Formats: sequence, structure tokens, C-alpha cells
Amino acid sequence: MDNELLKSAYNAEDFKEMGYQLVDLLANHIQNTTQGESEKTINWNEPDNELEFWKGFLKNGSTDEFFKEVLLRTTHTHNPKYVGHQVAAPAPVGALTGMLGSMLNNGMAVYEMGMSPTAMERIVCDLLAEKLGYDSISRGILTSGGTLANLTALLAARKARVDNDVWNNGHNQPLGIMVSEEAHYCVDRAAKIMGLGEQGIFKIPVDSDFSMDISQLEAHLQKAMEKGIQIFAIVGSAPSTATGIYDDLNAIAEFASKHKLWFHVDGAHGGAAIFSKKYKHLLQGIEKSDSVVIDGHKMLMMPTITTALIFKDGAHSHSTFAQKADYLLTETEEEDWYNGGKRTFECTKSMMSLHWFLLLKMYGKDVFDQNVTVLYDLAKAFAEIIRAKQQFELAFQPMSNILCFRFADDKLNPKELDALNASIRQELLGDGEFYLVQTKLNGIHYLRTTLMNPFTTTSHLEQLLERITQIAEKKLTQPIS
Ligand SMILES: Cc1ncc(COP(=O)(O)O)c(C=O)c1O
Repeated sequence: MDNELLKSAYNAEDFKEMGYQLVDLLANHIQNTTQGESEKTINWNEPDNELEFWKGFLKNGSTDEFFKEVLLRTTHTHNPKYVGHQVAAPAPVGALTGMLGSMLNNGMAVYEMGMSPTAMERIVCDLLAEKLGYDSISRGILTSGGTLANLTALLAARKARVDNDVWNNGHNQPLGIMVSEEAHYCVDRAAKIMGLGEQGIFKIPVDSDFSMDISQLEAHLQKAMEKGIQIFAIVGSAPSTATGIYDDLNAIAEFASKHKLWFHVDGAHGGAAIFSKKYKHLLQGIEKSDSVVIDGHKMLMMPTITTALIFKDGAHSHSTFAQKADYLLTETEEEDWYNGGKRTFECTKSMMSLHWFLLLKMYGKDVFDQNVTVLYDLAKAFAEIIRAKQQFELAFQPMSNILCFRFADDKLNPKELDALNASIRQELLGDGEFYLVQTKLNGIHYLRTTLMNPFTTTSHLEQLLERITQIAEKKLTQPIS
């Protein structure tokens, strides 16, 4: 068979030429966003129009325009007016480690297919374990996202705390977990994947400050026992997603220890505060947990997707998926920390440790301290600005870089205020200068910001409030639907 196309697809000169073009484009993008006068954060397009555009591009578009079009038609986390979802504005070096990993494409399931990144993964996980206050028997893995890492932790918890080996024998009794009602939905999903069902998820209500109401733990455990459900784990949020409020990890640790439950901390977002001298106190008690999840692609300036799952006792990380796939997984006498496929849900995974390792090598741990501290400080400053403005209402004092607020007007009833804030957010989306999201707290509609970009300043946030005021005032002259 003719192999001209294959030769073309692997042409090194073409790769070089396109690569230089892309690096130039992205370097300009960084310059124009984080360090310059920003363009729109999002050029909003309706889904069906976007679909039509790319169908047309596949047929008639010019390859030369591909990178530019993607840039134009995506949301710019590097723009300081990006204050939306919890993904980092990655440090540019992350794009290079991403490219390196994509080209070399070592599959990481066994040591031979990823020697260097496997060693780096061990170094990164050991460092995180030390920062968490764990000890030398701790071990960790990197995996594709907080969602998968939380599931993996709960599988380890079940293996460790339930007498029946459910992984190998299947279920023979009802099991359950306890978690705050404000926890990320992936914990719920993990429990359902594990077959616990709705009845096995004990949602603990939150206090008026949105952290797990510790006073309700004993009663919920009692309720589970009465129903014959064995609770094997409790999950603390550090912090929870909608509000960015940290649960009291010390109190949860005490409860878990008293009842011999596995204590897992979902620190996907704010576990990164272990690096912040100023904010690590928010994680007090985390050293008493059995496992912790921390996303690199949220508060640690890395590209998607890379998550660390660290176990206090590394043996649990080895027993979670005890099963045979003989061609990959040889049984060994010594601890084979280097065959990652035995300990991850994934078989093939990306060489994600490159991101962590090079950032640490080039800038040291202090860069993580700066990122977390700058962003958490900024949220506090933003809260002060909002408090000082009569037309705005703050939902709670922020503990992290997540902050919810809304435009308020005494003349409107609660339903009208909800509708007004929802329509403000819709207009901001179409406008594209700023990108923020929205959430419901206690049934009230709030605008939600996560300050992810360390180059966002209070001046950008003042501009956001001005823009919201303009939109609201315009809308208040029209009937609210
Ligand atoms: C607290 C928390 N846990 C887990 C997740 C899910 O992590 P990922 O998006 O990496 O799967 C999120 C995502 O926002 C989160 O905020």
C-alpha cells in the first residue's frame, strides 16, 4: 500500500514549522492576556452555530487557520477577567511538558513504559505526602482528575474497612459513606458506581457558614446503623465546590477515629493550600486523614488533567485493585512502586508528572505558595469591595478564592432578584469581556466567581461590578421575566 500520507503525517519539518507558529501564537496570547490589555475572555457562540462552523471547517477551512480559530473560539483562562470555573491559567511551561508527553506518549502502566515520569511521580507524591504531614510509609499516585481520584480513594476505603472483599466477591451487605451535602457531585457519583445506591449516601447538612455540620454526625451514623447499613468512610471537603468553604477536618478526623471510619479529604481544589504559609491552617487535621486528593490543574498552575491521590499508608494504594492482568502486572516480593498500572484505575495514562516536576524544578514549592496565597488574598479583598457597595450582597465571607455574590435591589421580590441575577450572568456571557458562573445557595441565585488567575487585580474586579451595575440598571428599566 502507498504510504505517502503516513510519510506526510510524520514529517519532522512540518512539525517544526507548525510548532514554531503555535508557540508564537500562544506566546502572544499570554502577552496579550496575563501581561497586557486583554481581549474578550470568551467569544460566546451558540452550540449549534459552533457545530456548523466546525463542520464547515472540516470541509473547506484552511489548516493554516486552525490554531487561530481554536484560540478565538475557546475560553481564555489567562485573561485576568476570567473568574469562572476552577481550572488554572496554566504556567506556560505546562504547555511544553504537555507537548513533550504527547510526543513521547509513554503509556505509564508499567515502569518500562515511562521510566522518567514514573520516578518523577514518586518524587512528587512523596513531597506531597511530606507537606500533608504523612510519614515515610505514605505513597501516592497521579491520575486523571479529582473525580477518578475520589472514586479510587473510596474503593481503597472499602477494601480497608469492610470485612467482605467486595472487589473480588461482590456485595453481601448494605454499605454507606458520609459526606457534606455541599460536596462535589463526583463523590455521589463514586458512591453510586460502587453500588451503594441513594440509601448508602448519608448527606450531612451544612451550618449557616456552609461547612459540614459536625453536630449531626452521630445522629446520621445512628440512623445508618438502625437501617443495617455499615458506614465505612467519611469524606471532608477542602473546600466544597460551590462555596469554597472548608470543612472542619480536625472534627471529622476525631469522629472517624472514634468509629474506625476511613477519613478521606477531597482537596481537589484547596488541598493546594498545604503550600501556603498563610492559609495552610485551613487544612488543620488533614494529617490525620487516610487519603487526600489534590488537583494540579486547579490551584497548582498545571494544564488538565493531573491529580494526586496520596494515601497515609501506602499499602492501601497497592491493595485497591488487586486483580490479575498478567501481561502487565507481575507479582513481586518487594514493593513495586514503579508499576503504576497496579494502583491506578487507568491502564494507559498521560505522562502527567512532567508538569509537577518541571514547575518544582524551575520555580520551587514557593511558586505554589504564591499562587494560592495571592488568589485567596484577592478573594478577601473582593469581599471587602462588595461589602462596601450597597447594591451588592455577599453570600458568605470567602475562605478560599471562591466567592458568591449578587446584585440586590430592595424593590424586587426574591423571585425577581433571582431572575435579574440569572439574566445578568447571561448577558455577561454574551458580552464576553468577563467570564463568571452562577450557583444556587439555599435556593437563592448567586453569581459565582473563582479567582484562578494570579494576574487578576482588584481593579479588574471593580470593573466587573461596574459592568454588572450597568447591566442591572438597564434591565431594571425593562420588565423582568
Ligand atoms: C471539591 C472538588 N472535588 C472534585 C472535583 C472534580 O475534579 P476533576 O474536575 O478534576 O475531576 C472538583 C471539581 O471542581 C471539586 O471542586
